[in-house]
Amino acid sequence: MCGIVGYTGTRPAEPVLIEGLQKLEYRGYDSAGVCTLDDRGVRTTRRALGKLAALKARLSSEPCPGTTGIGHTRWATHGRPSEKNAHPHESDGVTVVHNGIIENHRELRLELQARGRVFTSETDTEIFAHLIALARQQGLPLLEAVRRAVGRVQGAYALAVVDEKTPGALAFARLASPLVVGVGEGEMFLASDVPAVLAHTRNFVFLEDGDCGMIEAERYVVVDAAGVAVQRPVKTITWSAVMAEKGGHKHFMHKEIVEQPRAITDTLRGRLSFDDAAILLDGVDNGALLSTRRVVIIACGTSWHSGLVGASLIESLARVACSVELASEFRYRDPVLDADTLVIAISQSGETADTLAALKEAKRRGCRVLSVCNVVDAAIPRVCAIGDGLGAGTLYTRAGPEIGVASTKAFVTQLVALHLLALQLAQLRNTMTKEALLEDMTALAHLPIHMEKVLAREDDVRALAQHHVNARDMLFLGRGLLFPIALEGALKLKEISYIHAEGYAAGEMKHGPIALIDDAMPVLVLALPGPGYEKVISNLEETRARGGRVLALVSDDDHSLDDQIEGVLRVPTSHQRTMPVLAVLPLQLFSYHVADLRGLDVDQPRNLAKSVTVE
Ligand code: AGP
Repeated sequence: MCGIVGYTGTRPAEPVLIEGLQKLEYRGYDSAGVCTLDDRGVRTTRRALGKLAALKARLSSEPCPGTTGIGHTRWATHGRPSEKNAHPHESDGVTVVHNGIIENHRELRLELQARGRVFTSETDTEIFAHLIALARQQGLPLLEAVRRAVGRVQGAYALAVVDEKTPGALAFARLASPLVVGVGEGEMFLASDVPAVLAHTRNFVFLEDGDCGMIEAERYVVVDAAGVAVQRPVKTITWSAVMAEKGGHKHFMHKEIVEQPRAITDTLRGRLSFDDAAILLDGVDNGALLSTRRVVIIACGTSWHSGLVGASLIESLARVACSVELASEFRYRDPVLDADTLVIAISQSGETADTLAALKEAKRRGCRVLSVCNVVDAAIPRVCAIGDGLGAGTLYTRAGPEIGVASTKAFVTQLVALHLLALQLAQLRNTMTKEALLEDMTALAHLPIHMEKVLAREDDVRALAQHHVNARDMLFLGRGLLFPIALEGALKLKEISYIHAEGYAAGEMKHGPIALIDDAMPVLVLALPGPGYEKVISNLEETRARGGRVLALVSDDDHSLDDQIEGVLRVPTSHQRTMPVLAVLPLQLFSYHVADLRGLDVDQPRNLAKSVTVE
C-alpha cells in the first residue's frame, strides 16, 4: 500500500505535497518522491530512498518549483525499495504516481519493450507512464489517454498523472485502491486518504471504481470506465485537521489508545434507544438481517479477532449459526454458501485486498453482504451498498482516522459494533427479553466510564512492561470471549515490539504448548470473571507448577493471586459480554510500552503497512 497526493492551484505545489505525504507516511515508507510542473510545463522530479525525511533533505537543496504536482510514499510490491524504483515514474513528459498492483505487468512490459519503450525501473507502475505517453503521441487528450491506459491493466490502481504538455492539470484514475478529490477555493487536491489534505479543505469527492478524471484549479471532471461523464457528489468531512494529528501524544498509537472511550461513545451514539429498549442501526438493512439463517464473518488480522468475539455474541444472543473465516483462506476454498447466508466483512480501512476479494466472491455466489468499517465510502462498504438486492449496508465504527499501523480504537469499536449487530439480530428474532436487551445496552453505555478507569492505570502497565522489555517469547492465555483477546494481545506485542508472542486458548495448554514453559517466558493469563474462570485458574496453576513466569489480568476485587504470581494487572468488574473491550486495553498499553522502551518505531513497524491493499 502506498500514499499518493496531488495539487493544482495558485500556491507552490511542493509544500502542499510534502505536507500531504507526511500524513500518508503510515501507508508505506520505503521511498518517496515528488514531481512538479511550472506554468510553462517545465517538469522537476525529486525522489529519495527511505522515509520522507530523506526526500525533504533532498528538496531543501534541490527544490521543485511550480504550482502543479504529484507526490508518492511507497510500500514496495514490485521492485525492491530503491531510488530508481521510487515514484514518480516518467516517460516522454508524462509522469505518474500509483498505489496498487498491475497483475498483467509482465505481458504489458514485454509488449511495450517490443514497441521500443525503454524501462528504467523494476516497477509495474512505469507501465502506466509508457502506455499514457504512447496514447498522447497518438494525439489523444490526457484524460482519454489515461482512460485507455488503465483499460489495458488488470489489478488495482489509484493513479495521479501530470503531463508537460498540459500544465495546470492533473489526471487521475482509481480501481480497488482509495483515491479522493479535495475541492478547494481556486485549487484542487488528490489524495489516497482524507487526512492528507484536510488542513486545506473539508469538501471531498469519493471516487468510484473505474472512475477517471481531471482536476484543474477551478474545476474537476469525472468519467466512468466507458468515458461517460458522471456526477460524484461533494461530501463535507467533519473531522478536524487536528484530529488526524498526534494531539500532543508521542505516537499516534498512544493517542488512539487514549481516544478509545470517545470512539466507543461515538460508535454508540444514536444506536441505543432506552425508551423503547431498542437498537437502532443506521445504514443497515434490517430485512436482510431478519432473513438471515446463517452468518459468516470474514476478516484479516485484528479484525478477524473482533470477528471471533462477534460470532460468539451472535450465536449466544441471536441463536444464529455464525462462523468466522480468514478472508485470505475463504476466498480460495470454494465455500458452501447460499442466499440465506449473510456474509459480514470486518475491516478498519475498508480496503484490505483479501477481505474485499472474499466479500466480492461471497456476493457473486448470491449471499447478502454487510460490512463493519471505519472509513466512509471505502471499497468494502461500496460492495455492501443497499439497493442491488444483496447489499445489506455498512455499520460504521466512527473511530475517526486510525493512523498507527497497530489497530487499537478500531478494534474496540468493532467489538461494540458487532455487539450491537448481535442485539439487533436478537431483537428482530425475539430471542432476548426486553430486560435482557436492556442489560446489554446498559453494559455498553457504561463502557466508556470503565475504560477511562483502566486507562488511568497506565503507570502500572508501564512498570510491568519494564520487567519484560527484553523477553524473547511470550504467551497470552484466555478462554471464551477472552480467547480472541489473548490472540489480539499477542498480535499487538509481536507487530510493534518484534517479540515472538502467541495467543492460545487456555484449555489448549496441555495439548502441546505447555512444553514451552520455562523460567524465561512470561505467560499472561486473562483470569477475569466469567464461565471459564475456575478452569483458567487451573491452567495458570499448571503453568506456575512448571516454573513459568505467570502474569495475570484480574478484576479489581480479585486478590486470590496477589502474592502467588509475578505481576497483576486489574480491570473493573463489568458485564461478561463487554469484558473483552476492557481486557484488551492493558494488553494494548503493555505492548505499546514494551515497544517504546525498546526504542522502536511504534507507529510504523518494520515490514508493515496500515492497510494491506495487495495480496
Ligand atoms: C492490526 O493491528 C494489524 N495491523 C492488521 O492485522 C490489520 O488488522 C489487518 O491488516 C486488517 O486490516 P483492516 O481491518 O483494515 O481490514
